[in-house]
Amino acid sequence: MPNLSGKHIVLGVTGSIAAYKAASLIRLLVKAGAEVQVVMTAAAKEFITPLTLSTLSGRPVLCDFFDHSDGTWHSHVELGLWADLFIVAPATASTMAKMAYGIADNLLVTCYLATRGRVYIAPAMDLDMYRHPSTIASAARLREMGATILEAEEGELASHLIGKGRLPEPEEIVRRIEEDMDKATTLTGKQLLITSGPTYERIDPVRFIGNYSSGRMGKALAEQAIRMGAEVTLVTGPAQVLPTPHERLRVIRVESADEMLEACRSVTSYQIAIFCAAVADYKVAHPEEQKVKRESRPSMTIELVPNPDIAALMGKEKDKEQIHIGFALETHLDLEQVRDKMERKSFDLIVANTLEDEGAGFGTDTNRVTLLSRDGSIERSLPLMDKEQVALEILNTLPQLS
Ligand code: C5P
Repeated sequence: MPNLSGKHIVLGVTGSIAAYKAASLIRLLVKAGAEVQVVMTAAAKEFITPLTLSTLSGRPVLCDFFDHSDGTWHSHVELGLWADLFIVAPATASTMAKMAYGIADNLLVTCYLATRGRVYIAPAMDLDMYRHPSTIASAARLREMGATILEAEEGELASHLIGKGRLPEPEEIVRRIEEDMDKATTLTGKQLLITSGPTYERIDPVRFIGNYSSGRMGKALAEQAIRMGAEVTLVTGPAQVLPTPHERLRVIRVESADEMLEACRSVTSYQIAIFCAAVADYKVAHPEEQKVKRESRPSMTIELVPNPDIAALMGKEKDKEQIHIGFALETHLDLEQVRDKMERKSFDLIVANTLEDEGAGFGTDTNRVTLLSRDGSIERSLPLMDKEQVALEILNTLPQLS
């Protein structure tokens, strides 16, 4: 297990019946070469003793901000900075909600807030608690802030109810973390240019022609690429959503297709470009300087002229080493037409979807896509999945394209 060797891990243990599994988890992490510092909540101590966990980790377990016997201060900031990885296993609904909203009333949550390392959260709770909108919202918010949620498993729960909510076995937790960390370096040193969102084409100072693109696919791609180690420049139209800020993410906000093209051309070096934006095909030939008054015109005709095709122009200018990925949203999926688009726009990979599929396309959280590479080595229809998973599938094809 080379990934975890030498890593500093803060393991947060919270008050779930599954806290007993923390003992095996510590053994596996230590065996893999990691240094483990356990932080427990008060409730966790009801389920497993600090003595067991400190013996296995070889370090005193921390529960409070200071030691009641001698007043020694336990610095959450120092601990947070020490941690390469912050793992909470098992994580209760309460701790997840506190982490999601920064309610730092115990050492574990303050430590989480001070952590710069990667965060993994393994929830464990009863099935109704697990599927409660509050828990789902906490998990979504934590994910948005960069944490990886290790989904609970199905099975018999402490309540004897059968359902989702079981903490995965410690071996499985370690495997998932290692797998995730492997991915974390696959794009290290790579620079990505991603276009996202709609474009707004100005009619007058208060009106525009736009489209329903939300920017969710671009957000998912940017965040996933960052997780995989890339440096990302996101050129985005006025999208509803933006990726979580990160030191390796630069966001250039634009409004129109012309501005988007200019911004893309200003990105002087990149190895991979993903053209995810829903660029308006037309712009207004003569935008008005002043707001058009209804009274002044009984009817109005707007002349439209074609916008630049950003992907096609950038495709003409690209060098052989640069990889371009594009999207094709069609009413019906016609693979011949998709291949034709790939040629015209010099895409190395195209992500095709149709408006016929429920849950696919604009404004949804999910998408159902077919991936086609120019050289024919990839032709894969994926099932309906989250845009985050679609992003991962797209980025995972990169080694096959270069
Ligand atoms: O031709 P169509 O709009 O279907 O092409 C879609 C692909 O081309 C997407 O990857 C989109 O981001 C890109 N595109 C672009 N500039 C345009 C139109 C589309 O970059 N003006």
